Amino acid sequence: MSEAKDPQDTCVLVTGGAGFIGSHTVVELLQDGYKVVVVDDLSNASERVIDRIKTIVGDAAAARLTFYRTDVNDREAMSAVFDGDHIDRVIHFAGFKAVGESVSKPIEYYANNLGNTLTLVDVMRNHGCKDIIFSSSATVYGDPDSLPLTEESPKKPATNPYGWTKWMIEQVLTDLHTADPAWNVVLLRYFNPIGAHPSGLMGEDPKGIPNNLLPYVAQVAIGKRACVHVFGNDYDTPDGTGVRDYIHVCDLATGHAAALNWMNGRTGVEIFNLGTGRGTSVLEIIKAFSLACGKDLPYQIDPRRPGDVDANYADCSKAKREMGWVAKYDIGDMCRDSWNWQSKNPNGYEG
Ligand code: UD1
Repeated sequence: MSEAKDPQDTCVLVTGGAGFIGSHTVVELLQDGYKVVVVDDLSNASERVIDRIKTIVGDAAAARLTFYRTDVNDREAMSAVFDGDHIDRVIHFAGFKAVGESVSKPIEYYANNLGNTLTLVDVMRNHGCKDIIFSSSATVYGDPDSLPLTEESPKKPATNPYGWTKWMIEQVLTDLHTADPAWNVVLLRYFNPIGAHPSGLMGEDPKGIPNNLLPYVAQVAIGKRACVHVFGNDYDTPDGTGVRDYIHVCDLATGHAAALNWMNGRTGVEIFNLGTGRGTSVLEIIKAFSLACGKDLPYQIDPRRPGDVDANYADCSKAKREMGWVAKYDIGDMCRDSWNWQSKNPNGYEG
């Protein structure tokens, strides 16, 4: 059963807590008074993130943070984590997330993302912990019939194995609750997370050539890449370029805190969109980032990228109504914080 508790009496396990969204969420939870256990195998993150988290939150809150360098697939190690700390709730971020790579490595993606979730929920069950927030994605809506997307909008076939893993894990967690109604499942469907911590100490640190728009634009701004490649200008959108609902990573972090608070003492399966409700085109992003970094960023129009949709943006009224959560940062803030992070850390966490 989900037991209602105050943050200071609640221990939250955050898998993938050293990653981009995970690290910002851990900061938010520590600042809210939670005890936090981070499990991350650092396969796509740096241990330096843990130090940065501690710097941001200060010594008193940092004392409530425990970090284990552990793969969530490692059942014995995960059992030991649950044996060592009384875990009340879990936020599950850990997973592979590169769309293109998932197409060439489907076995690895299904094995890791589905496998680690199954291991996690089994270990949770064995330890009487049945409260989980899952890091899902607007990718489950596929090519939308109508906008904005509400939580009732139909799920559509994914266009890549990464998307399918999000799709399938949502189903796994839903089935878990059907089998045992004591489970308390929250599926958070993120739109496009960008930005960075306003301190400039944490941000997105992609390895190699960035797949996503914002990190690519930031690398053009810092001079690492020559120009932005705009994937198509013949979409059915006002300026012909793709439109997405970009959301500041710190707003996503408060969304997780709101969900933890909301799920306190409940059971069930609930879905929330986390976005801003506003669509922004690729050209608008380039313009906003140019303003933030103080120079015009060069770009060229390239062919469409397979699998991309014209536009998507969220209806976030459910999160507001139910959890009292709204995104407060706008595109200008997101580009400013992203540039602040990129300019202070040109090589990410590697210094
Ligand atoms: C992508 C994934 C989505 C995943 C999300 C995670 C696809 C099809 N979707 O979303 O499943 O949950 O990342 O953050 O890959 N663009 C350019 N030039 C670039 C990169 C992107 O013009 O160099 C355009 C794209 O065509 C799109 C927009 O920018 O219109 C955003 O792209 P991106 O940042 O990759 O996010 P999504 O594709 O929306």
